[in-house]
Amino acid sequence: MSDFVKFGIIGAGSAVWRYHKLGTKNNPQVKFISGYDINEKKLAKAAKYSKLEPFSKLDDFLKSDIDAVMVLVPHYLHSDIVIAVAEAGKHVICEKPMATTLEECDEMIAATKKAGIKFMIAENHRFLPAHQFIKDALERGFIGDVFLGRTYEGAYASSQFFDINDWSFTYSKGGGGVVSDQGVHKFTMLNWFLGEVDSAQCWLSKTLKSPPNKGEDTAIILLRYKCGATVTVDISSSTVHPLTNKTELHGTKGTIFEDHDWERPVKLFSSHPEAEVKGEFYSPKIEHGPFPDYYKISMGHEDAYFAECILEDKKPEFTPEEARQGVAVVLLAYLSAKNGRMTSMDELMEIYKKEGTRSILEGLGEVTQKNYENLNWD
Ligand SMILES: NC(=O)c1ccc[n+]([C@@H]2O[C@H](COP(=O)([O-])OP(=O)(O)OC[C@H]3O[C@@H](n4cnc5c(N)ncnc54)[C@H](O)[C@@H]3O)[C@@H](O)[C@H]2O)c1
Repeated sequence: MSDFVKFGIIGAGSAVWRYHKLGTKNNPQVKFISGYDINEKKLAKAAKYSKLEPFSKLDDFLKSDIDAVMVLVPHYLHSDIVIAVAEAGKHVICEKPMATTLEECDEMIAATKKAGIKFMIAENHRFLPAHQFIKDALERGFIGDVFLGRTYEGAYASSQFFDINDWSFTYSKGGGGVVSDQGVHKFTMLNWFLGEVDSAQCWLSKTLKSPPNKGEDTAIILLRYKCGATVTVDISSSTVHPLTNKTELHGTKGTIFEDHDWERPVKLFSSHPEAEVKGEFYSPKIEHGPFPDYYKISMGHEDAYFAECILEDKKPEFTPEEARQGVAVVLLAYLSAKNGRMTSMDELMEIYKKEGTRSILEGLGEVTQKNYENLNWD
């Protein structure tokens, strides 16, 4: 093994690839050298922009001189492609959400374990320095036992939302709408902070008149964690402001406010004796910048960490099993929307054992409030 990792990419589509590239621009351990995409035009464009060697056949790409593959394809393809990469003996990092069902996640875990390669889901919220700071503050007990939380992500609707032929936000290829696409970031982050979810209640709505194959663009999810904390997750793909996120956690010894739009993204109020500042809000200096900077920063750290795991032969701390739990919360939210009531993780597991979790994605359109008739977007 040399002192850097040679990455190839599968899927040279949207802006997300650019952020990975920009985030690792000055990292000598990460080199993106080649790419494969079924769309030759998109591949040619990315190859020119990023100086990648383009491959028109997956087999040739997988046999080429690469150490690892970054998978950036539609959600329903994550499992098949990750499995193909693992069987070719290459390390693999795959964009979120891990997959659209728990069964696909299981197959990915089994195949990557069997192949003995490194496997990590590219959940950039796990690698954002502001979130790392919060995790550390929670572990050090600075806000005590968390009992209440609120999180928000809002994003402008992209043109993909209105394109009936585009896979994203569809039930069949995207694994659902905003809950699957954006909610999974929140669920994975909150599980990391608070542990396992006990139960959820979710409302879905379409505020945009998107095609019928597209899922909800807006949702509220109430989560109850096994630790007792209750948290609201508000997410939308139709808000009118640049992409942003907020998180608020309240505990028995203090509070954390986080806002991706702030220059100093975290405010901590702590009464803990070991806290750096006690009894008043404190905003530490943390590497950060509003969108698109926090994308570049978080993806840069994520890809650097994955390369380090390969070079130093370490198991990634963010495990595929944890990423799978993020998908489980997506499916739990959808199940609750279908049930029209609070639904427990045990109920989800019953479905997983009996008919399989794909069944949860069927009929979601019928339980989604059609709110667009009340709204004037002109
Ligand atoms: N971390 C984040 O914040 C973030 C942001 C945006 C997207 N993403 C994730 O990145 C992934 C890709 O999303 P996107 O927006 O770039 O999608 P996209 O549709 O813009 O691009 C997908 C690309 O995959 C290619 N493709 C489709 N089928 C293929 C196949 N069988 N083999 C090879 N290539 C194939 C398409 O031609 C296209 O170029 C998704 O998992 C998405 O959720 C993550």
